[in-house]
Amino acid sequence: MSNLLIAGNWKMNKGPEEAQKLLKEIRANLDGRKLTSQVAVFPPYVSIHTAKEVLDETPVFIGAQNVHESSPGAFTGEVSSSMLLEAGCSHVIIGHSERREHFGESNELVARKARRAINDGLKVILCVGETLQERKKNRHQKVVMEQLRSVLQQLTEENANSLTIAYEPVWAIGTGETATPQQAQEMHAFIRNYLTELWSTQALSGLKILYGGSMKPENAMELLKQEDVDGGLIGGASLKAESFCEIINIAENLSR
Ligand code: PGA
Repeated sequence: MSNLLIAGNWKMNKGPEEAQKLLKEIRANLDGRKLTSQVAVFPPYVSIHTAKEVLDETPVFIGAQNVHESSPGAFTGEVSSSMLLEAGCSHVIIGHSERREHFGESNELVARKARRAINDGLKVILCVGETLQERKKNRHQKVVMEQLRSVLQQLTEENANSLTIAYEPVWAIGTGETATPQQAQEMHAFIRNYLTELWSTQALSGLKILYGGSMKPENAMELLKQEDVDGGLIGGASLKAESFCEIINIAENLSR
């Protein structure tokens, strides 16, 4: 893996005004620097336009946190992948555990969303991860494998360069509790291994596996140092320019 990806998932935070402030601070921090790592932000829909304006001519990718699985039409309250592309998004997060938990998104729905988004030209960050109970029952690998399987069977290896996996153990999201670097590495290696069983090494050469779940400046170095950890999907710590940029700096120092 040549470079790390640092992605900020803002969740339901930062309307246009606050978004503008945060993005200007991030931009000021990155301006004039030549980054080796990749950076992406995922604001709520209403702040995507602001992100596009503030981040104009920077290498920072913009993405959405969700997308509908159909083409445009009578789906009140939903947003299609073609609209996201038009608004300036290159990426979309799909299958976040909060969507699975609070909005009843099944593996099957997640798979349909991923297929649609990729076919329409978006890059997908597919979130997978087990609950605490599943880990305690030693079912974590089985759960993650099932989450991956349902999506991968809808795709082909030609889609590999449009796919990033984010391993986010549910028990570590927003809890302040982080997977140990060993737990993260073990699962990332498992995921990579599983992918290798389905798709060729060549197709997978650029596929990144991010870690997410209470990543912050204090623990980012240890997590990002792991061989199979190719970046981070960061929630809480991406809402402040200082902590987000600090994690970017750590990734820059580690750039391989
Ligand atoms: P967190 O969120 O960093 O606040 O734990 C990560 C995520 O949910 O993507």
